[in-house]
Amino acid sequence: MLITFEGPEGGGKSTQVALLAESLRSQGLIVAQLREPGGTEISEQIRDVLHDNKNKKMDARTELLLYEAARSQMVSEVVIPRLEDDIVVLVDRFRDSSVAYQGGGRGISDVDVNWLNDFTTRGLVPDLTLLLTVDAETGLKRRKSNGKEMNRMDNQSLEFHKKVQKKYLEMAQEGGRWVMIDANGTASEVQEKVRDVVVVRLIESGILEGNISKGKER
Ligand code: TMP
Repeated sequence: MLITFEGPEGGGKSTQVALLAESLRSQGLIVAQLREPGGTEISEQIRDVLHDNKNKKMDARTELLLYEAARSQMVSEVVIPRLEDDIVVLVDRFRDSSVAYQGGGRGISDVDVNWLNDFTTRGLVPDLTLLLTVDAETGLKRRKSNGKEMNRMDNQSLEFHKKVQKKYLEMAQEGGRWVMIDANGTASEVQEKVRDVVVVRLIESGILEGNISKGKER
């Protein structure tokens, strides 16, 4: 099963992915935890280029192609082999980030982004996508205060981040694999909601047994 985490800056995705991975592992599942752009040595090198604040001149299509290149490498080197081994794969951002940021934010058409997404993922679509919602202003404030250096994408304008947020909300309206989670609470409050959704889906898919508890504290 492929589970992706999406959302604007400051929604706490990486914390949530890490907490979920730990919780599922404690229940005996083998879990792969990845992030985009990244997840392989080559993709991490591409990440450095994308996020370097020096690269202010980067053209929107160059940006899209680099995110897609990093994705292609991660899918072929890690995601497909893990899924073939029946390992649960959790990814912090995946193809929908390109639709939200390079589509919604930069204005590249959905047709172009989706075509490239299909090409680099080999048509792979997540089984479940959790959208951690937080409004753009609050998210950016949280991002600025979390002590990590602001990268080239974090440093885009508030208007850009609002367009990204809007595109995410549009995509989530499609329903299906999308589940929206309010990310305004504390990390453990948000994690409880995340775990509830994921555990139900894993039980429905027969990956977890129905009598296994939803969380450590229950
Ligand atoms: P993060 O690891 O802090 O979420 O940083 C990733 C940044 O890259 C974030 O600003 C979103 C952006 N991004 C895109 O613009 N397009 C993409 O396809 C992906 C995966 C990320």
